[in-house]
Amino acid sequence: MLELGNKVVYQIYPKSFKDSNGDGHGDIRGIIQKLDYLKGLDIDYLWITPVFVSPMNDNGYDVADYYRINPRFGTMKDMDDLIAGCNERNIGLMMDMVFNHTSTDHEWFRKALAGEKEYQDYYIFRDGTPDQVPTNWQSKFGGSAWEYVPELGKWYLHLYDVSQADLNWENPKVREELKKVIRFWKDKGVKGFRFDVVNVISKPEVFEDDLEGDGRRFYTDGPHVHEYLKELTANTGIADMITVGEMSSTSLDNCVRYSNPEEKELSMCFNFHHLKVDYKNGDKWSLMEPDHMALKKLFEDWQEGMQENNGWNALFWCNHDQPRIVSRFGDEKRYWKESAKMLAASVHLMRGTPYIYQGEEIGMTNAHYTDISQYRDVESLNYYEILLSEGKSKEEALEILAAKSRDNSRTPMQWSAEKNAGFSEAEPWISVIENYKDINVEKEMQDPDSIYSFYKKLIELRKEKAVISQGTIEFLERDNADVLAYKRNYKEEELVVFNNLTGGKIVLQMNLEWKTYHKLLGNYESSSRDEKDGRNEIVLQPYETLVLEK
Ligand code: NOJ
Repeated sequence: MLELGNKVVYQIYPKSFKDSNGDGHGDIRGIIQKLDYLKGLDIDYLWITPVFVSPMNDNGYDVADYYRINPRFGTMKDMDDLIAGCNERNIGLMMDMVFNHTSTDHEWFRKALAGEKEYQDYYIFRDGTPDQVPTNWQSKFGGSAWEYVPELGKWYLHLYDVSQADLNWENPKVREELKKVIRFWKDKGVKGFRFDVVNVISKPEVFEDDLEGDGRRFYTDGPHVHEYLKELTANTGIADMITVGEMSSTSLDNCVRYSNPEEKELSMCFNFHHLKVDYKNGDKWSLMEPDHMALKKLFEDWQEGMQENNGWNALFWCNHDQPRIVSRFGDEKRYWKESAKMLAASVHLMRGTPYIYQGEEIGMTNAHYTDISQYRDVESLNYYEILLSEGKSKEEALEILAAKSRDNSRTPMQWSAEKNAGFSEAEPWISVIENYKDINVEKEMQDPDSIYSFYKKLIELRKEKAVISQGTIEFLERDNADVLAYKRNYKEEELVVFNNLTGGKIVLQMNLEWKTYHKLLGNYESSSRDEKDGRNEIVLQPYETLVLEK
């Protein structure tokens, strides 16, 4: 079985990583130029988001051809070179499989539109009239999840953008087509796969209105999803490769099943519950401070639940859909470095496989755009209109976007203090963040105290210490909303990790025998332990992370 506990994955959003040919758009050659940088971090796997032929309405998550590379990103030769370059460095390349939907530009959908029944059965079409939408389900990007095609007298389902039509997984031919895609990339030397929103692939037999919500309860972790994943894995020979499923609104029970090795479905799951603790009443497009108690409870439930049932978690704060964590749960103004390091340690030292999203390792921040013309993301642009239509002023809508937009994580990677942050010679497709002269790779690589150096240390420790890669986890300070603390154990080894989630000082009284521990890692110089009047006291500075080893 593949050992995953000591592995670290780095995620690249190619469009914003490095532009090699001066067109303002990141590309595969750009990634190749930076492979030594990634090797320097000592990551094991590299996940790149989709680079297939696509109209790019959703930046590649709208695939029009799974077998060809989008010329904006390069050629198949570039891709082969990237795979070879990764293999030479002992980095496994993971590709992103978008199998819930295709672009409406895909040949299958075009044939469906041209009236070919065989291909209509590749998608989810329903007969009807323009005034009778099949169900009231909502698209995740806003508006109805159905689109009417007058020429056919039919509606088709799109859980995402109107240009992303949902595939019909009930059709065995569709499943065969998708397996072919996996085999093709596997034969090319790809070492793993990330499956986009894979827990929504299995739709219910009967489509009905959702009187309680937006429809997700009918198709989330749907009726045949486990069966389909088992089939996909078995028939493509990927059971021993690293596979991660992106799970939308999933449950712990289902994630146990997806990731327990005995089930032979996936190696691990991304779930997003811990990234919704700043959604007011579950609404992403609202402003709210993170609820620390809710965050802690979610980590406890998921870490312990997965541990008890032999499931496996992907550990992460950031990706191309999430605002930057230091701006979100940290304090980028007063405690930028401290909070970025604390947030890093808090997830990297848990049980699971950590993922680092490009720029996270240098503490990149939110974009702080102030004008709608600066945004590019389809979801953000849709929601801007929705917020205005709900009566919000432009200023209010822009304030919400500035906190919540996916573009916050899609700004160009900040390589240096040079023009366009060293990302491109040309004007980038999306604006560089103004702080790039202070926050960039070149600067941080030279500084042993930088966020970059801290991430490097975390990766090193995971490889060195079985207690991190294989240990059990137990949470401490459960009733204290301000501190995320846990203990890891493996044979004789023990680690205790304290994370101050706040910008205030915190004093804890602990029952630990301090003399038996030493400080393994932290983001403050001085020691925080004190023995006073026979009591053991621990003082945590703002956003302090303190890792003690027995
Ligand atoms: C999840 C991806 O991460 C996101 O970027 C995309 O828009 C949706 N899936 C739809 O494919």
